[in-house]
Amino acid sequence: MWVLAIETSCDDTSVALVDSKGHVRHMLSANQDKVHQPFGGVVPEIAGRNHLHDLLPLINQLFSESKTNWEQVSGIAVTNRPGLVGSLIIGLVTAKTLAVAFKKPFIGVHHIEGHILSAFLSEAPLQEPLYWKEPFLALVVSGGHSHLYVVKDLKTFTCLGKTQDDAAGEAFDKFAKMMGLGYPGGVQVDRLAVKGDTKAYAFPRATIKDSEYDFSFSGLKSSAHRLIQSLPDPQAVKEDLCASYQEAIVGALLARLEKAIVELKIKKFVITGGVSANSRLRSQAQELAQKRKCEIIMPALKFCTDNAAMIGLVGALHLERGEVSPHTLAPEPRADLT
Ligand code: KG4
Ligand code: ZN
Repeated sequence: MWVLAIETSCDDTSVALVDSKGHVRHMLSANQDKVHQPFGGVVPEIAGRNHLHDLLPLINQLFSESKTNWEQVSGIAVTNRPGLVGSLIIGLVTAKTLAVAFKKPFIGVHHIEGHILSAFLSEAPLQEPLYWKEPFLALVVSGGHSHLYVVKDLKTFTCLGKTQDDAAGEAFDKFAKMMGLGYPGGVQVDRLAVKGDTKAYAFPRATIKDSEYDFSFSGLKSSAHRLIQSLPDPQAVKEDLCASYQEAIVGALLARLEKAIVELKIKKFVITGGVSANSRLRSQAQELAQKRKCEIIMPALKFCTDNAAMIGLVGALHLERGEVSPHTLAPEPRADLT
């Protein structure tokens, strides 16, 4: 049996069929990057309109391409929090309507819970699930979130620290906008940074105070702005600027993670969310895991950015525990995962 999952919390329309081990039978996504690119960021109203246009055809295509029928579906999972309210509503109303029409249970899923569990998705069938039942650390870094959690039993989430201002992905996107590199910025910075020198420019890193795991990227962003203004031709050194700026973000993220590994003596961690696609973060995280003798899982690249498969896995686990949502469930644009 498969869970049909729907994700429309921001600008990606994504649908998937997933089982409770994390096997992704099929996933389809309609990416809106090109539509939002001229604005340098997501325009909520445009995102909502595109979800409305794309969602049902995508679900039909998902069923026909994977040769699945509704009898094989055990429930419907949908992101209902947090996110852009207009975008969330499209997914939620569609899920509720399908649940009523096909008499299936449905469950509203927290988007960040999805990102955390995305580390355990697999495109190949699984004998045993990949997820850990013992406590692990989860660093979730995306366009809207930079959060560090301890995850117990796959269902208790304790937030150790979060960003005090911009999220890591936002810090990438704003820098890319300053440099005129296009949207989404993280991908462009990553691509250029490969050819640059990480030590060419010294960017400030917010210091870690004792027992604090919070992040802050606004100082870094302001300092990049000042530096770019002061350079005669920033475009001539864009590779070095990208490499140095990226290094500051990666360093800040992994410093907090390492502090948690040492202080809490937790030897397993995942790094997820759109920014976990960053090549430098991935290689430095592998080094950290080796240095601290930890087990590490980072999602395959297609599961780093927003996707429905991660929502499906969370939904499948909730449904397995008998947890369903009422048909009155509302979208929650702001919701902490606790
Ligand atoms: O998880 P996601 O798709 O959406 C949110 O929930 O926010 O994350 C999108 C973010 C964007 O800020 C984008 O610039 C960033 O992930 N991103 C990257 C890379 N790929 C995507 N940042 C750094 N390096 C990348 N390779
Ligand atoms: Zn996300």
